[in-house]
Amino acid sequence: MTHPVLTALGLNDTESGTYLGNGEWATASDAGVLEPLNPTDGEVLARVNATSKADYDKLVTRAQEAFKVWRATPAPRRGEAVRLCADALRENKDALGSLVALEMGKSKPEGDGEVQEMIDIGEFAVGLSRQLYGLTMHSERPGHRMYEQWHPLGLVGIISAFNFPVAVWAWNALVAAACGDISIWKPSGKTPLSAIASIRICNEALKKGGFPDIFFLFNDAGTELAETFVDDKRVHLISFTGSTKVGRHVGERVARRMGRSLLELGGNNAMIVDATADLKLAIPAIVFGAVGTAGQRCTTTRRVFIHESIYDDVLAKLVTAYKQVEKKIGDPTDPANLMGPLNSQEGVQAYLAAIEKAKAAGGKVETGGEKLDRKGNFVLPALITGLSNDAEVVQTETFAPILYVMKFKDLDEALRMQNDVPQGLSSAIFTESLKASEQFLSAWGSDCGIANVNIGTSGAEIGGAFGGEKETGGGRESGSDAWRAYMRRQTNTINYSDELPLAQGIKFDL
Ligand code: UN1
Repeated sequence: MTHPVLTALGLNDTESGTYLGNGEWATASDAGVLEPLNPTDGEVLARVNATSKADYDKLVTRAQEAFKVWRATPAPRRGEAVRLCADALRENKDALGSLVALEMGKSKPEGDGEVQEMIDIGEFAVGLSRQLYGLTMHSERPGHRMYEQWHPLGLVGIISAFNFPVAVWAWNALVAAACGDISIWKPSGKTPLSAIASIRICNEALKKGGFPDIFFLFNDAGTELAETFVDDKRVHLISFTGSTKVGRHVGERVARRMGRSLLELGGNNAMIVDATADLKLAIPAIVFGAVGTAGQRCTTTRRVFIHESIYDDVLAKLVTAYKQVEKKIGDPTDPANLMGPLNSQEGVQAYLAAIEKAKAAGGKVETGGEKLDRKGNFVLPALITGLSNDAEVVQTETFAPILYVMKFKDLDEALRMQNDVPQGLSSAIFTESLKASEQFLSAWGSDCGIANVNIGTSGAEIGGAFGGEKETGGGRESGSDAWRAYMRRQTNTINYSDELPLAQGIKFDL
């Protein structure tokens, strides 16, 4: 029987994973099958037919045709198309939020929150469609005008991860649409149903509004087609979200063909709690940051540095809070639960392996550290003390609810430890001291793409540019001026004089 959450969105037991454009979903079923599992009970949710090479080529060709139309459509009119998508997502927020909770395993409020991010970035992109500004410059030559303009880039490839199965697509695709690009999405093989539903909702809205195709979708049963995609010269930008290991490969491959890549890779995010911190704020921020989405956000809090004078007190409070969370672990589609299962069995194995490694390195598990004895991928969130920041397991991002708790004596030491990891995504300090806060935000403070004061490391708003430094990959997407990654800049100089003065005062007498 089809799960009611799927039925609510018109999805069946068997679905095509390929949107070919012209209202057509591929019918080929000989390219393998994806079987997304329900993380709560391990059952297959539905079968999704993967995309054949022939269908992949067909959709890229159609995307190229679509680009010719879309790049010539005025940007504010493109914004109108995005507005219709945002409206349709708002209408379907509850149903799509439930599907995200079901298929990914995050709690229902977090699933709904993810759809809210889609709506928000849609509205942002509508405004953006009237603000794709370029600069004007003063030419050094008389009778000359110089300015820059931003043109649509072309085809944007989006490879998204299981942990944000729909929001990250929207950050890319809706901004790219306003910029005049056509996007092609390859979602995670673990969450194809959320992708199919999102594409349907948006494409129906576009069709009703009389707009052409701007969003395409394919699914890969293995990695062969994804490799083809990354190497495909027809795809101008590859926006990749996932592990540093795969991201490094993607970045190298795209660079080799002189394509553009936007990388959103791993984080190893830390929070500093100094002696003045307001613990009413800090404790819930740590717990949400470490346990929210069962520790599977790239912005999840993985390390916390506590001033030695308050260490024992904060640790005791955290243990108590974790015991409260333990009572609310269960089916993510039930809004009463705070924490769902991990997305996959591999996630559970990685969690257990990290706990063993931490123990072997001398770490003490203060609470949690076990898999729950029931169906599905449920684990207890873990607090680990006694390790130093340079322990290998602390330096590594394990996509699970494991928090390493460490002590510090002064802010310099805390900052040094916080920055001393390969990744550079998100960071936070809890302090009532203006000096500590400003030092944390200074050029010699946090080296991350996101640095927060008195709020946690996760839960970034769409209005800011999202991304991080070092092995996080350096990409920025979502708000601020991240749109520039989806456009090409052109510098124009116009001579309206009767002379031909050369730049830099060069004389070239013929
Ligand atoms: C991710 O984990 O891949 O800041 C993205 C947050 C979310 C986005 C996370 N808005 O936690």
